[in-house]
Amino acid sequence: MKKMLILGVTGVLGKAVAEIAKSRSWDVVGTYRRACPEDKFFDGVAMHKLDMASKISIGDFLKEVEGVQWDAVVNTVANTLFFNRFEKTPPEVFEQDMKINVLGWVSVLQGILPSMKRDASIIFVLTQMVGNAPKKYFSSYTASKYALLGLMYALADEYPQIRWNAVSPGLFDSGYIKGLPEMMKESYRLKYRNLVDPHDIAREVLRLIGDRASNGRNSVILPK
Ligand SMILES: NC(=O)c1ccc[n+]([C@@H]2O[C@H](COP(=O)([O-])OP(=O)(O)OC[C@H]3O[C@@H](n4cnc5c(N)ncnc54)[C@H](OP(=O)(O)O)[C@@H]3O)[C@@H](O)[C@H]2O)c1
Repeated sequence: MKKMLILGVTGVLGKAVAEIAKSRSWDVVGTYRRACPEDKFFDGVAMHKLDMASKISIGDFLKEVEGVQWDAVVNTVANTLFFNRFEKTPPEVFEQDMKINVLGWVSVLQGILPSMKRDASIIFVLTQMVGNAPKKYFSSYTASKYALLGLMYALADEYPQIRWNAVSPGLFDSGYIKGLPEMMKESYRLKYRNLVDPHDIAREVLRLIGDRASNGRNSVILPK
């Protein structure tokens, strides 16, 4: 059975990817940050605690999965969205976004790379703002996601024996967007009639994983 690691499997997108991967007979391993959910959905999914803001937690996680050979890794983790004008964005927000979204992922990647199978697939989850149109008031989040895009392209060139791809979705319904001001949600509703269905994003993730020719691709997924 092929093994897939989903970072942030307890999130809306992580769960959708797990659901589709399980239905296609993947052996799914997932991470959570706060508490391991009791949810029956996670029966059969090996769960590991991982806080990407903590070097200790990353070290513990890497020890737990040492030697596991991965066929696919999907990173859906992101720091909570901060929305405000650039001058009103405290430096700590930038630090935290870089720490969790970028540096935590770098440490996890460096730890698992030696046990990635040849031709394995690694997926970065970015945002529609990368590859479509960056939006005002999201400077920290967008900067961290662009850093990830650059990292993905560089690694796609450096490690061609592994396939590196990204998905960049538009808004989908999750706790993640609850913090957005109504005016922001309204402008999105005027532009697009729907939010993106996380299952459509998950299907694109699985499509990229199954596509042997894919490397260094960023799929932007907009609502219909
Ligand atoms: N929602 C949107 O509209 C949207 C749009 C475009 C792109 N995205 C991107 O899609 C991805 C998934 O978003 P989502 O809406 O599914 O998020 P979500 O439901 O909030 O889930 C986030 C996941 O990340 C985990 N997590 C949060 N902080 C962490 C940390 N410090 N260390 C380790 N794990 C941590 C959470 O674990 P716990 O549950 O234990 O906290 C949860 O499993 C993110 O990369 C986001 O940037 C989202």
